Amino acid sequence: MHKINQVLCDALQSGQMNRMVFASKRRKSIEYKRVTLRPVSIKGELMYQAEYQFDKKVTHENIPFFEAIDFAMDRVENDFKQINIMTETEDIQVLASKPANPKVVRQKLAQRREAANLSHNRKKRYIIEDGKPCDFLIKLGVMGEDGKVFDKHYSKFRQINRFLEIVDNALDSLPTDRTLRIIDFGCGKSYLTFGLYYYLKVLNDRDVEIVGLDLKEDVIEFCNKTAKQLHYDGLKFLTGDIADYKSDGADMVVTLHACDTATDYALINAVGWNSNVILSVPCCQHQLFSQIDEPVNQPMLKHGIIKDKFTELLTDGLRGLKLEAHGYDVDMIEFTTLEHTAKNIMIRAVKNPDATEAACAKAQREYEALRDMYHVHPEIDSL
Ligand SMILES: C[S@@+](CC[C@H](N)C(=O)[O-])C[C@H]1O[C@@H](n2cnc3c(N)ncnc32)[C@H](O)[C@@H]1O
Repeated sequence: MHKINQVLCDALQSGQMNRMVFASKRRKSIEYKRVTLRPVSIKGELMYQAEYQFDKKVTHENIPFFEAIDFAMDRVENDFKQINIMTETEDIQVLASKPANPKVVRQKLAQRREAANLSHNRKKRYIIEDGKPCDFLIKLGVMGEDGKVFDKHYSKFRQINRFLEIVDNALDSLPTDRTLRIIDFGCGKSYLTFGLYYYLKVLNDRDVEIVGLDLKEDVIEFCNKTAKQLHYDGLKFLTGDIADYKSDGADMVVTLHACDTATDYALINAVGWNSNVILSVPCCQHQLFSQIDEPVNQPMLKHGIIKDKFTELLTDGLRGLKLEAHGYDVDMIEFTTLEHTAKNIMIRAVKNPDATEAACAKAQREYEALRDMYHVHPEIDSL
């Protein structure tokens, strides 16, 4: 524990710490999934604010400066196996599944990170700010050369920022000691794929290779040309069908609004590669619509519009269970507000190295019971 104590103490007292994130629970019974500690100034006094992230809520607690080290050590000893510390000059990852023998990985930042914002109730700040020129957003016509976001593209701008926030939260589940490999299936015009590269490589200096795949040749040609003009060397685009895509793997699989069973093929690839993180926003979930056959719900499902929404929920509920059966922790989260698109449920799946066989088998049984109750044959079964 001495080594961990030293790392945490240095960070908390350095005056340069941006945040400290505790993740990867030691026991299933711990109610919160993650705790983030940030410096805050309250009535002129420097304190730390702990944010507890539960499944469906977030709570906060303010901790006096000199109690922060006890608080942090308590989290490591009792609650979490992993700590990620972001300072103005480096990222530090502490892997403490064996607290007596922790692994500490440090990565210097090429560019100094902005100092922490100490205001207590922070105003919502976007990762990419309106008013600051950002090369890929200028190139894709979302903002002007002066950095001002065009009114008609504001919801896209918000969607990109929301996506980057979700990626930011998933970062501690990705490897830090080698090139990160990411695939975006059904990337389309690739606002979000460019955003992902900008966030990881340009803002965070991560060693990253991103591939965007789409059926549309002209769109892929445009994206490759744009990546070249932006000198985004680790970003490339390929034409192809997700179902036929062959690769030896990816640490993170992204698939946003890929239609119908295209999402299933993306998930099947990700599970086959044992990818650490899957971010999927399904759309056009039609496959099961004509298969659903269940008498109790029939009086409700006789209405096409209800059956349509129900099919979406059943399809994604089954996908979530199938991922749990393969050892993933799954959350269904709101991707973006309905104002941007009605397709706003994201399946966020993070590989749980400690998933037990019993938990996987339970999820598989639940999957089968739900599937059989509605007499459907989801594509994802080809897993
Ligand atoms: C609605 S767009 C989404 C684009 C982007 N991911 C986004 O969210 O802004 C869906 C994209 O998925 C692509 N797509 C659909 N099925 C596909 C498949 N089987 N293989 C590859 N791309 C596919 C389409 O060509 C289209 O560009």
